[in-house]
Amino acid sequence: MCGIVGILGSEPVAGNILEALKRLEYRGYDSAGIATLENGRIARRRAAGKLKNLEAALDAEPLFGHLGIGHTRWATHGRPTADNAHPHLNGQVAVVHNGIIENFRALRDELEAKGHKFTSETDTEVVAHLVDDAIKSGLSPSDAVAASLPRLKGAFALAFIFEGEEDLLIGARQGAPLVVGFGAGERAGELYLGSDALALAPLTDELAYLEEGDHVVLTRQGAKFYDESNQPVARKRIRTAASAFLIDKGNYRHFMAKEIHEQPEVVARTLAHCLDLAAGTVALPFELPVDAASLPRLTIAACGTAFMAGLVSRYWFERIAKLPVEIEVASEFRYREAPMEKGGLMLLISQSGETADTLASLRYAKKCGQKVLSVVNVATSTMARESDVAALTLAGPEIGVASTKAFTCQLALLACLALAFGKARGTVDAKEEARLVAALMAVPGLIAEALKREAAVETLSRDLAKARDVLYLGRGTSYPLALEGALKLKEISYIHAEGYAAGELKHGPIALVDSDLPVIVIAPRDKVFEKTLSNLQEVAARNGRIILISETGAVDHLGAEGEEIGMPEMAPDFSAIVYAVPVQLIAYHTAVFMGKDADQPRNLAKSVTVE
Ligand code: AGP
Repeated sequence: MCGIVGILGSEPVAGNILEALKRLEYRGYDSAGIATLENGRIARRRAAGKLKNLEAALDAEPLFGHLGIGHTRWATHGRPTADNAHPHLNGQVAVVHNGIIENFRALRDELEAKGHKFTSETDTEVVAHLVDDAIKSGLSPSDAVAASLPRLKGAFALAFIFEGEEDLLIGARQGAPLVVGFGAGERAGELYLGSDALALAPLTDELAYLEEGDHVVLTRQGAKFYDESNQPVARKRIRTAASAFLIDKGNYRHFMAKEIHEQPEVVARTLAHCLDLAAGTVALPFELPVDAASLPRLTIAACGTAFMAGLVSRYWFERIAKLPVEIEVASEFRYREAPMEKGGLMLLISQSGETADTLASLRYAKKCGQKVLSVVNVATSTMARESDVAALTLAGPEIGVASTKAFTCQLALLACLALAFGKARGTVDAKEEARLVAALMAVPGLIAEALKREAAVETLSRDLAKARDVLYLGRGTSYPLALEGALKLKEISYIHAEGYAAGELKHGPIALVDSDLPVIVIAPRDKVFEKTLSNLQEVAARNGRIILISETGAVDHLGAEGEEIGMPEMAPDFSAIVYAVPVQLIAYHTAVFMGKDADQPRNLAKSVTVE
C-alpha cells in the first residue's frame, strides 16, 4: 500500500523524506512525490515509477523547505502517472494519503458544483479541495481539517501542509496506520509523521501511534492529539525496536532470499517464545482469552498466505485438540454475517496486522461477542491493539512483498497453540506433549537442511521458468502448501499456477495433464503419503511431468518417471513448516530466472490496508 512521510524539521527536509520513502518501498508502489514549504509557498516534485525517478527530479530542481510531506503511491483510483502521484494540491493545501476515500465521487460532484476544478483521477485530490474549501469559509487550517475529516468515508491515513504555515504539519488516521515521531539529540524539536516505524527509524525511535479516528496537529511547540470527537487526547510515547533492525539485504540479491534463509533462526525464536525447551513442554507467553476446555468451535479468518497458514492449522487444531474449526478468507467472512456463539473464539492471522479485510473480520467477531486472538508479526499493529490477545511471531520485519519467514513463523506459533489447546482439552497427555514438542524443536534444523536443497531447486526452476501453467498437488497439511506454492509462483513469476487437493485430481484437473504441464507434488512421508503417490500414477499415465517434493528417494517408489526435490526425514506432525521452504525457493528462483522483481512484484502491496 501507499507510504506517507512528513517532517517538520530544522533544516531542508527533502533528502530525509526521500530516504524515509525508500524504507517504505517494501510496501509496493508505482509513483512518488514530495512537497515542501519554501518562503510560505508550496513547492512540489512528482514522478511515476520508482523512487530513482523522483530523486532525478529533485536533483534537477532541488527543494529547500524545512517542512514537507512525501508519498509512495500504490494506485487504487487513477493510473500510476505523475499527475496522479501525491502530494495533491488545492489552494493553500497539500495532502498525501494512504487508503481509499469511498465517497470521493459524491464529494467531488459537490465540490465541482461549487466550481472546483480537478486535475487528477484520484480520490485523494478531493481531500485537498474539501479542506481548502473549509479554509476559504474562514476556518484555520487545523479547524478546516477537523471539520473535513467526518465527511470522509473509507480507510485512510493523511498528512497535510499549508501555504503560509511554516510551523504546521497535520496527520489523521482512520483504518490505515500513522505514527508520530519525536526528534531527539541534534534533531530535538523536530517532529515526524510516518506510515510505520521503519520509515522513521533513521530519524527517531521515539513514537506515538494515532488511534482510530485520531488526528494530530504538529508544531514546533509539540504534538497535540485529538480523538474522533475532536477532543484533545493523550497518546502514549513508546520506543520502538524498528530502528534496531538493520534493514538491508546483507549478501543476498533480494530481501526475499534473505528472509527465506532467516527461517531457521526466526522459527526457532518463535518456538522458543512458546515452548519450555528445557522441560519439553508448551509454555505460551500469554493467557488464552477463553476456556479452551469448553470452547465449542474456533473460527479463523485471514488473507493470502496468512490464510494458507490458517488452513494448515485447522488440521492441527482438529487432530491434536479435537477442536472443530471454521475457516474463511477474511474478505468473504467480513460480509457473510456468520452466526457466532457468544463466548466463542476468533483467531486472526496477519503478518502486517493492518490488512483491511482481516481487521473488518476482527471487528465483526467482537460485535458478535467473540474473544479475539490474533497471530501478528507487528506488535504495534492495529490488529494487535484491537485483539484481546496478540500472539507475536518473531519473524522480524518482512520486507519482501511475498511472505515467507512470516508464514513459517505463523505455522510454528499455530502449532504451539494447537498443542496448548490439546493440553487444556485433555486430548494430549504428557507423553504425547513431549513427543510433539520434540518434533517442533527439530523443525528449525530441518528447515536448515531443506535450504541445502537450493541448488536442486535452482536447476528445476530454470525449466519451470518456461512453463505456461503449473499444477501443485498435496493432501492433508500439504494441500494448503499446494495452494501456497501456487500463490507464491503466481505472485512473483506471474506464471499461472493452481493448487489442488491431490485427491481431487480425478474430479477434473486431470484434464489439464499433458507433457507440457509441470505437476509439483508435495508429499512428506505422512499417513496420506501412499495415497498421494498413487494419485501420481494418474499423472504419469498421461505423460504428465512429475516433480516430487518428498523424502529423498521417494521418487524410486513412484514406479514412473519423475524429478525429485529430496527432503530430510522427519516426524510427519509438523512437516508443513519444513516443506514450505522448497515451495518458496521454487517460486523465488523461477522469478529470478525470468528477470522479475522478486521483492516488489508488479501490482502487489505488502500490506493491503484497503478493501
Ligand atoms: C503473501 O505472499 C501475499 N503477498 C499476501 O497474500 C499476504 O499474505 C496477504 O495480503 C495478507 O497479508 P497480512 O498477513 O499482512 O494480513
